[in-house]
Amino acid sequence: MRHAVIMAGGSGTRLWPLSRAGRPKQLLDVVADAGGGAHSLLTEAFVRVRAVVPADCVWVCTAARYADQVRADLPELSADRLVLEPEPRDTANAVGLAAALVADVDPDAELAVVSADHVIRPVERFAHTLRTAFDALATRPRALVTLGITPTSPATGFGYVRRGAATGLAGVAEAAAFREKPDRTTAEGYLATGEYLWNSGMFVWRASTVLEALAEHLPASAEGLARIVAAPAGAARAQVLAAVFPTLPKISVDYAVLEPAAMEPGRVLVAELDVDWLDVGSWPALASTLEGDGNGNAVRGPVVVLDGSGNIVFSDDPDHLVALVGVRDSVVVHTADVTMVCPVADAERVKQLLAEVQERH
Ligand code: GDD
Ligand code: MG
Repeated sequence: MRHAVIMAGGSGTRLWPLSRAGRPKQLLDVVADAGGGAHSLLTEAFVRVRAVVPADCVWVCTAARYADQVRADLPELSADRLVLEPEPRDTANAVGLAAALVADVDPDAELAVVSADHVIRPVERFAHTLRTAFDALATRPRALVTLGITPTSPATGFGYVRRGAATGLAGVAEAAAFREKPDRTTAEGYLATGEYLWNSGMFVWRASTVLEALAEHLPASAEGLARIVAAPAGAARAQVLAAVFPTLPKISVDYAVLEPAAMEPGRVLVAELDVDWLDVGSWPALASTLEGDGNGNAVRGPVVVLDGSGNIVFSDDPDHLVALVGVRDSVVVHTADVTMVCPVADAERVKQLLAEVQERH
């Protein structure tokens, strides 16, 4: 069967103060609906994968502390498809835990892994590419397939995949190399070659294949995961999970699996995803999901801007007006207990600001 797991346990620190440890970005209603309301990035991800796999084959992997919020956000999610991590150990272990649990109920499962922090349009084209990636497993059962996006800038927050030999399947090539989060100069070099795609952070593989790859490249994690699923489902497994999971090496699936696996010729494939794709990682990215005020500002909530443009202004409180005059290219975010202001150009530094705040408070 084809399954999908949504990775939804990140903390989204660059969207502080809207995104909080107790309520991270993927659970916030930040994506505008046609009807004037808004829904969460997690809901976006759920709807997206539902276009390809049945609802009872959609899994969500997240931190235990977000369980109630996820259930409330996704009423369609089956209770036994919610995978809860006792504490975050990054995506290598989240992917591994989900794969191990999926394989436990369906040993031949084909598994799509998707992020919860993307906005993708049109959904139909995403669904087509996801099906193509699944189809690739018919002839390449051991493949690790990543969905790749044509890069538009030398961004340093993404992984890069080098397109290699053709596979015979339209839109799918072998990956000649995989490099996670290169520095700017390296990324500029990649763009200049025209041979690189961004790793979208979405993958397709057999559950058993990714577990094998973990055993090869991150054995400590694979051994821990095997101990967890060896325990009978229920209280016994929960107990082993609580004891073992926090000890697993904290690393992302990109560094732990994709980078080393891509050194083995033909092991990693890349399916080209030709869509409007947005990783909602920072305020400028989120701004493109907000409405415009007609004067070049992205706004949400009660906001008035006079003689100013290029601003991102967000009031989380319907009774609290944020008013600006003569201000340009700034991010202004008001929440119940924090107001944050920074130049748009410094938006990536919000993570640093949060670290500073945590140190002083
Ligand atoms: N369950 C769980 N547990 N989910 C997690 C954890 C964790 O410990 N850490 C992160 N996630 C989720 C996030 O919520 C997000 O949906 C997804 O996994 C990816 O994590 P990010 O932290 O957002 O990764 P990134 O954006 O820095 O990099 C990844 O995505 C890029 C594209 O958006 C990589 O795959 C890059 O190579 C890729 O270019
Ligand atoms: Mg991300």
